[in-house]
Amino acid sequence: MDQDQKKVRVAEVAASKLSDGIVLGVGTGSTVNKFLEIANLSQFRLKGVVSSSNATTEILRNQNIFAEEPNAFDLIDLYIDGADESTIHGHLIKGGGGALTREKILAQYAREFICIIDDSKLVDVLGAFPLPIEVIPMASSLVAKRMISLGGQPQLREGFITDNGNLILDVYNLKILNPIEMEVVINQIPGVVTAGIFGKRGADKLLIAYADSIKEIGINV
Ligand code: A5P
Repeated sequence: MDQDQKKVRVAEVAASKLSDGIVLGVGTGSTVNKFLEIANLSQFRLKGVVSSSNATTEILRNQNIFAEEPNAFDLIDLYIDGADESTIHGHLIKGGGGALTREKILAQYAREFICIIDDSKLVDVLGAFPLPIEVIPMASSLVAKRMISLGGQPQLREGFITDNGNLILDVYNLKILNPIEMEVVINQIPGVVTAGIFGKRGADKLLIAYADSIKEIGINV
């Protein structure tokens, strides 16, 4: 089974978690896109749908589903999103698609965050995937210098502007041994909008696609 087929399998299981009457948060990326293809959201009487990116909003619009602002709701009942890396504890690196800030806002709003990945994304230590950091443009050099002093090698994502009008630094060769601590340290650098570490608010549940099965791991905090 190739990675694409695994994404389909895990998306099917995620779709089986949907029910009427909920506010659904939808993440960004190719795994979520499979979920949106499969779930046929209009068959549910959802209380509302919120989106983590302009790209996802556009896909929803093509399905005649209007994404509302998170501010319209007290909470999101269920947030479904992928990740670039995950530990077994539900700590994540996200932002490969550049939507990390809005994704983090939705995760924070969510009562339950189900993260859908294939087994290639499971790691013992976060950081083999370059860590995306959204930065305000005038602070990109400052943040890059600080990330070098933290042991990383930052690279500006060329020709990319986030949905919030900012830049992304992809930081290579960081070994993120303590995701919760590292998230706080990076987020405190002036000009950082957010780091793509989902440490303090990680996933509540991981759905992991293997070649022959889907594993469901609930995270106890
Ligand atoms: C988007 O900004 C990311 O956080 C995605 O959730 C992540 O890159 C996973 O994407 P894929 O499902 O395409 O691997």
